[in-house]
Amino acid sequence: MNPNTLIPSTEPIPVAAEIFIVLEQLFFLIHIVIINMILGTGLILLYKWNRKSNFFDINKPVAGKIPILFALGINMAIPALLFLQVVFGHLFYTSSILMGTFWILIIPLLIIAYYSSYYNYKKFEVSKNSKYALVLMIFIILYIAFMLVNNLSMMEMPEKWTTYFSNRDGTILLWSVSSIYPRFFHFLVASVAIGGISYSLYFSRKANSEENVTEGLKVFAYATMIQIAVGFWFLLSLPQQVMQKFMGQDIIATTSLLLGIVTAFVAVFLSLKGQLRSTIVMLVATLIFMVINRYNLRVFHIGENFSIAQLKVEPQWDVFVIFVLILLIGVFVIFYMLKIAFPGGVKR
Ligand code: HEM
Repeated sequence: MNPNTLIPSTEPIPVAAEIFIVLEQLFFLIHIVIINMILGTGLILLYKWNRKSNFFDINKPVAGKIPILFALGINMAIPALLFLQVVFGHLFYTSSILMGTFWILIIPLLIIAYYSSYYNYKKFEVSKNSKYALVLMIFIILYIAFMLVNNLSMMEMPEKWTTYFSNRDGTILLWSVSSIYPRFFHFLVASVAIGGISYSLYFSRKANSEENVTEGLKVFAYATMIQIAVGFWFLLSLPQQVMQKFMGQDIIATTSLLLGIVTAFVAVFLSLKGQLRSTIVMLVATLIFMVINRYNLRVFHIGENFSIAQLKVEPQWDVFVIFVLILLIGVFVIFYMLKIAFPGGVKR
């Protein structure tokens, strides 16, 4: 069956699609970095659990940041979700339905994970269960990430939607698509790296915490070295015609990928030298290039099946301006919350 016939028709949009795409990618970047921070610091805490007698005193404040980041990470996901739906809604809704059973489970599981992060903090040093709560939170985050990797990939591959005719249980996942696995590991390893940087950043503002700062930077460096290998695995797992776009056929996509790899190498070098601030600058550059790469991947995967040029624009600038104003107020409130939750700055 021609997958083209399965793609729902699109609704008119109120302003140019490019505006929504930039906003979507911006909020996705914020969302994913925060989620990486949560999972990464969670894994670091679990690894270090109780190894030294002062573990609980030193790390309790770190555990206390996780629930705050949770709220923030989910809040930042919502604009990404809204903007994604405006432009790619007809693809995204379809893939969400195809894996609906697993998809809807995200909501109750997310509530449990959020509660677990609070439990972990509140009972950090008093109950053994706090460690189990942390483990539960980590497993749920991995589940949700795997579902998102599947959904975001399935939406880009209408040719996989025909499975619906043999499975209507809402349990379709892309087990046989080889890029799913490196895509998921890319997220996991990025979380360890960003967790390391967050750990360093937190302790850079505390007195006599040199050891923890260096430890976090090392975690970042080693995880990012592994990430370079995972990145190549991801690239090689892509369908040949998509991979070739990143390997010279599309000059913008190739340049963006190369710049992302170079900035990642520089970040590793700087982190091994113990330079937290410059490592963060290079890391931010890497993340921006990687978000661009991910969007390029979406366009290449979707290929002939859909192009944003197909979307009809029926201007509604007044509504859009009101929306942007409210968004700015929301972002301001969140920054204010962050200022209260994380006082101080980077000291190194
Ligand atoms: C702890 C919970 C969460 C985890 C671990 C997580 C993880 C991820 C990951 C790994 C991706 C990238 C998937 C890929 O492209 O391969 C992603 C994207 C995304 N997530 Fe989350 N997420 C979480 C919660 C949420 C929630 C609650 C929402 C909805 C409100 C959400 C909305 C999105 C959206 C819309 C994207 C795609 C954005 C885009 O493509 O522009 N996420 N998430």
